[in-house]
Amino acid sequence: MRVSILPLAREHLDQVAAIEKACFKNPWSRSLFMEEICMPISMDQVALVDGQVAAFCCIWLVASLAKVQNIAVHPAFQRRGLGRYLLLHCLALARDHGAVRAGLEVRTGNIAALSLYYSLEFCLEERRPGYYFPEGEDALLLRRGL
Ligand SMILES: CC(C)(COP(=O)(O)OP(=O)(O)OC[C@H]1O[C@@H](n2cnc3c(N)ncnc32)[C@H](O)[C@@H]1OP(=O)(O)O)[C@@H](O)C(=O)NCCC(=O)NCCS
Repeated sequence: MRVSILPLAREHLDQVAAIEKACFKNPWSRSLFMEEICMPISMDQVALVDGQVAAFCCIWLVASLAKVQNIAVHPAFQRRGLGRYLLLHCLALARDHGAVRAGLEVRTGNIAALSLYYSLEFCLEERRPGYYFPEGEDALLLRRGL
């Protein structure tokens, strides 16, 4: 699989929104992604396979914190190492821009994402009961150094 990683740009938004829709029950809209890429603190990236967007990762650089806002891999490309590769790339990029730690929130029931994050040495910092609306699922706040 030949993968290239690029900054998320307008031309990727349709494909990114389609991946988001395929991966989440309450997906971000295309216009929300548009707002996201216009933010000066965002360092969003896409992974292309044969020129098609196969995954994306949205990261904010807030002072010295790299905050992972969103990550998803197209269902057809999951479990092939792409999520780990893209996330590691984004964390390294954030570190190169001055981040010294990374953080994110994840649903307690998201076993795939939790396994990915724990495999990359994220650690549990806090549990936020009932964080996700409307289901009331708890969020786990994970952190790691960079
Ligand atoms: C979470 C997600 C990004 C992982 O991407 P991926 O490319 O499939 O993951 P990788 O192939 O890089 O796997 C890396 C590790 O994650 C874990 N993992 C990934 N998918 C898993 C699954 N379905 N079940 C259990 N562990 C899983 C494993 O530890 C895996 O390592 P291994 O293959 O050596 O066992 C992907 O499943 C996804 O897009 N999910 C839907 C969107 C989402 O939930 N995003 C996270 C929001 S917090």
